[in-house]
Amino acid sequence: MKLRILFAFLASLSLATSALAQQPVVIKFSHVVALDTPKGLAAEYFKKLAEERTKGRVKIEVYPNSQLYKDKEEMEALQLGAVQMLAPSLAKFGPLGAREFEVFDLPYLFDDYKELHRVTQGPIGQQLMKKLDSKGILGLAFWDNGFKEMSANKPLRKPEDCRGLKMRIQSSKVLDSQMRALGAIPQVIAFSEVYQALQTGVVDGTENPVSNLYTQKMHEVQKYLTLSDHGYLGYAVIVNKKFWDGLPADLRGILEGAMKDATKYANDLAQKKNDEDLELVKKSGKTQVITLTPQEKLEWKKVLVKVHAEHEAKIGKELLQAIYKETGFDPKKL
Ligand code: LMR
Repeated sequence: MKLRILFAFLASLSLATSALAQQPVVIKFSHVVALDTPKGLAAEYFKKLAEERTKGRVKIEVYPNSQLYKDKEEMEALQLGAVQMLAPSLAKFGPLGAREFEVFDLPYLFDDYKELHRVTQGPIGQQLMKKLDSKGILGLAFWDNGFKEMSANKPLRKPEDCRGLKMRIQSSKVLDSQMRALGAIPQVIAFSEVYQALQTGVVDGTENPVSNLYTQKMHEVQKYLTLSDHGYLGYAVIVNKKFWDGLPADLRGILEGAMKDATKYANDLAQKKNDEDLELVKKSGKTQVITLTPQEKLEWKKVLVKVHAEHEAKIGKELLQAIYKETGFDPKKL
């Protein structure tokens, strides 16, 4: 009798362990933008590939639109292990102590995606990611959004039109200097609160790629959008290092493959999405879109280029010079 109970107990134990073994690994992927954006769609695509290729051994739970955490909280949550994956904008790594990432915020550093990819998809990008290791974070990929446009309730055609305006920025010292160079007053506000801040007049304007502006309905509370393309906004997909290193090697390999393919998808999609959303902004009739002439754009460049020198030491002279070499940017030529 006793033996039978022992066998039954052992059998139930083995059932329980095998049930446990079949539990999928859950990866919580939190982000702050809408689903229908370059980052939102790429996160969904990564989920699809990862779940299919691991045959259900991994479950990716994507939480868009700051559902789970806002800008600052999500970084803390990743380090504490409350979420496993994020894709914050490169402008949000400064408070973590990774000031080098703010190099991407320098105005007019990149003329187009091609120049940018020489940096993000090459050795400089890889070296930058290594800086995160000491923070308990592993950088997996760079995902694009696009080039930022200025918006406000008055037309911003010349740099001096920004004087005295309260402008929302992300938590980057370079962006702070950029707005000050224009004579504006920068204010750091979490992405999830920007619409309301614009609506209630807490700030007068902001900057973002059009896909972010449109999907957060900011165009409904901004009368003018200037196609200034004055800076880049993109993402680093990051994971909690301890969690990632603890995954079975075969799973990790499959996930890395899925990330590689999701990165291509993200970067192929980004410009298209921004172009489409620009058409939708125009169609809405709520925001007047201002296109700058090459001469007008040059005026913006001339005013903003001094931000490079101001931040060279903090970002790292070597890094900045290496990027100039890749892109051909020469601040002295302006
Ligand atoms: C912002 O805060 O404006 C952006 O970083 C949001 C995002 O993730 O694209």
